[in-house]
Amino acid sequence: MRTVLFVAPFLLEATVKFIQAAVAVPGTRVVVLTQDEPGRMPPGAWHWKVSDATRTDAIVDAARQVMARTGGAHCILGILENIQDQLAEARVVLGLPGITPDVARRFRDKGVMKSALRAAGLPTARHARIRSTHDAWRFIEDVGYPVVIKPPDGAGCRATYQVNTADDMKAALADLRPSPEREALAEEFITGDEHSFDTLTIDGQPVFHNVGRYLPGPLDVMRNEWIQWCVYLPREIGAEFDPIRKAGFAANRALGLGTAFTHMEWFRRPDGSPVISEVGARPPGAQFTSLMSWAHDRSMYSAWAYAMIDGKVHGTFDRKYSAGIAFLRGAGQGTVSRIDNLEEAHRKIGHLVVEAKLPVVGRPRASGYEGEGYVIVRHPDTRVVTDALSTLIATVRVHYA
Ligand SMILES: Nc1ncnc2c1ncn2[C@@H]1O[C@H](COP(=O)(O)OP(=O)(O)O)[C@@H](O)[C@H]1O
Ligand SMILES: [Mg+2]
Repeated sequence: MRTVLFVAPFLLEATVKFIQAAVAVPGTRVVVLTQDEPGRMPPGAWHWKVSDATRTDAIVDAARQVMARTGGAHCILGILENIQDQLAEARVVLGLPGITPDVARRFRDKGVMKSALRAAGLPTARHARIRSTHDAWRFIEDVGYPVVIKPPDGAGCRATYQVNTADDMKAALADLRPSPEREALAEEFITGDEHSFDTLTIDGQPVFHNVGRYLPGPLDVMRNEWIQWCVYLPREIGAEFDPIRKAGFAANRALGLGTAFTHMEWFRRPDGSPVISEVGARPPGAQFTSLMSWAHDRSMYSAWAYAMIDGKVHGTFDRKYSAGIAFLRGAGQGTVSRIDNLEEAHRKIGHLVVEAKLPVVGRPRASGYEGEGYVIVRHPDTRVVTDALSTLIATVRVHYA
């Protein structure tokens, strides 16, 4: 029996799906180190309370206590972006295999990442670490407007600014207040269609990859509260995506990847060439793992678990469908008061829907680009999927009061 330590500060719905997948790998005892309550645990997994599952020392303490009882552990895992450094540090202390701190750092710090990509000759935005307002103005002199200013280790567009003018820059600097202790990252603004490039990589060898298209990019969604974000996975990811396949696999190699689900964001420039934006050495969020599962008609949660625990995957990954997701939200603040035209949407595209989580009346407005709920559609023909997403977001209206 192999003990798998799964670190998860909170047992969110998506987290539970990954835990369940790990539990289903034969010969595995999954112990979840969490600050959340046992009530949210999926059946078959063991609960181990941690005071703060985002701290290396707390993770190590808890892991040691578990390992003393189980006679060791096989590996330590976690899907959350902001604990990847801590997991890597814990691996070293505990003597467990997996991504090491230097590799985790290259995936976690967008500045270190971009320097490594550039050094490998891969296309990525020009960038600079910003430790003072002076650094920021100098970057503008070098690169010109527009630029993007963000924390080096952000997620979910947190404190991410598109800076088009000097006034925008003043506002961004007033918020980020860069200093040597509080570094920000400035990047040249890249124009192009934003996409994902996701892989399942085992010992540096990609065994699965995926391309998804964002409509529009997350920053535009954050800047416009009414936009209902959509993502679709085209059925065919043929020759037109060869440039990102080449650059994407090379990027993972340049960052030193061993075994992980990876999630890359990249821009497809008007001439078709890719610019790599960022890469995470963990599965994507925003229901992407479900979306990939629907497109390939098999559980990618399970594929992740087998890759991470057994170091292998079973069967083939055939792209049988295009799959798409629309995140439901609307203009306004407060709590969800009404959802209009759901029945009309159901009449028009209901036959394509495979999964949905509808907004709940009375819930406070969510702060992120994933909105109040989502609808997933799939069909063998990509065009049917993109048309269905257009219909969905043109029809369903979420109101707040
Ligand atoms: N250099 C850039 N050029 C254009 N858009 C950018 C750039 N950097 C970030 N963005 C936009 O901001 C979003 C969030 O930035 P990102 O670096 O992906 O951080 P996060 O970790 O918050 O996802 C991106 O998805 C993209 O829409
Ligand atoms: Mg991102």
